[in-house]
Amino acid sequence: MNNLRSVGIASVGAYTPAKRLTNFDLEKMIDTSDEWIRTRTGIKERRIVENGVCTSDMGVIAARMALERAGVSPDEVDLIITGTATPDMFFPSTGCIIQDKLGASKAAAFDLEAGCTGFVYSIAVGAQFVQTGLYKNVLVVGSDTLSKVTDWTDRNTCVLFGDGAGAVLLKPVPEGTGILSLYLGADGSGGELLKIPGGGSKHPANKESVEKKQHYIKMAGNEVFKFATRIMEVAALEAIKRSGLTVEDVSCFIPHQANVRIIEAAAKRLRIPMDKVFVNVSNYGNTSNGSIPIALFEAQEQGRIKKGDAIVIVAFGAGLTWASSVIRW
Ligand code: ACO
Repeated sequence: MNNLRSVGIASVGAYTPAKRLTNFDLEKMIDTSDEWIRTRTGIKERRIVENGVCTSDMGVIAARMALERAGVSPDEVDLIITGTATPDMFFPSTGCIIQDKLGASKAAAFDLEAGCTGFVYSIAVGAQFVQTGLYKNVLVVGSDTLSKVTDWTDRNTCVLFGDGAGAVLLKPVPEGTGILSLYLGADGSGGELLKIPGGGSKHPANKESVEKKQHYIKMAGNEVFKFATRIMEVAALEAIKRSGLTVEDVSCFIPHQANVRIIEAAAKRLRIPMDKVFVNVSNYGNTSNGSIPIALFEAQEQGRIKKGDAIVIVAFGAGLTWASSVIRW
């Protein structure tokens, strides 16, 4: 036994931009087809921010919604962790920008970068502060504007991504509910498979980095695909094992929404029927850190997850990284 408090998700908020970019729109921009994109990825359309809108703008809308739904005011927030791979800028952190826009004047704030896994990593980090009793209200935001780092002339990548944000408020909950298990992993040897090489200390932004398109997402799609299907199974099973539950006890799986074929392959390996798996990738594409909280929000709104249900969230991303959690809702 230990003295740690139980921690859970008190509320969820989400935001996706209004502007839709359909597969038919993409047909006019690059050599692709709606049929190719749908059959290879399950994506029909994605949302794209208007010019001038950045990651913190979306994150703060989702965060406000999560706080309102929990009945918690911004000045009651102790900590804001923002999972993002597309921060507004190098520094200050997007977390600090969100803190300011929210008016969460008593909150500490920072960003966490773990590719598309950043949101689940951020939940894991935020949960520790609630469990130890140091903090009562931890806001975890997942927000990305991948449209800004997408090469819109590269058909191998540009059909996959979209913009979006979500947020959850972590709070103490009764014992036996909330986060039952967490599992995080990384394999840096796979870093080359998915990266934005330019703009950092290795390839600082200059004329050459722009000419070489180093500020855009580079991806070995096939390799990432194989990694993703394998790791989604491994990570989901590990979190379930650590929770003391079985696969059958889980009512809803909320996987990272990157490609419906990855999700279906992982479900097959886990022997889970697809009606237990929440999928909305067709509407948004891969929104990176926005993916899981947007899915959580929609699953809850649609009555797919209810109080008392055991759910699994499981993500993978650049790094390579992966993370999973079993949550008693
Ligand atoms: N339209 C038409 N044809 C295309 C397109 C397109 N948009 N993109 C690629 N093709 C072509 C390729 O050029 C290739 O043609 P070729 O055989 O003449 O060379 C052919 O289609 C097949 O390409 P593959 O790469 O083998 O297609 P695959 O079935 O593997 O699907 C995909 C590609 C969708 C990218 C898949 O590999 C995938 O989803 N990978 C995982 C991506 C992912 O999840 N990334 C996000 C990670 S999370 C994060 O941290 C951001």
